[in-house]
Amino acid sequence: MIDREPLIAAARAAREHARAPFSHFKVGAAVLARSGQLFGGCNIENASYGLTLCAERVAIFKAISEGERTFEAVAVVTDTDTLTPPCGACRQIIWEFCGDVEVILANLAGRVEVYRMSALLPKPFDVSNL
Ligand code: THU
Repeated sequence: MIDREPLIAAARAAREHARAPFSHFKVGAAVLARSGQLFGGCNIENASYGLTLCAERVAIFKAISEGERTFEAVAVVTDTDTLTPPCGACRQIIWEFCGDVEVILANLAGRVEVYRMSALLPKPFDVSNL
């Protein structure tokens, strides 16, 4: 059983570093590696818009670049009543790098929803299709 609170707290803390001067939509994410380590990430926007990085991908790529390869869960935190699910690009990356993990959505008011990645991305394209 995953201890969700530290993961949500890490995503919440990462959100504080969000660089979102264009959308003003601050997102924090965190990934729990099987090693037990947590990696946080925030969204990072830039003037060309399209090069924006989502919080989830920042967190996952940070973990990968630190040598992590196996993951247990991903958390996403925003300050919205309706919780924020990962965008399509992030679903692909979560699936490919983390597999069928738990995806925990939360907001600053303490609302939490939990999904399995396979429910968020049914019939995925991945290495098994190559
Ligand atoms: N964003 C994320 O960081 N993660 C998502 O899954 C949804 C969207 C960011 C990208 C952009 O900086 C802002 O939210 C508005 O789309």
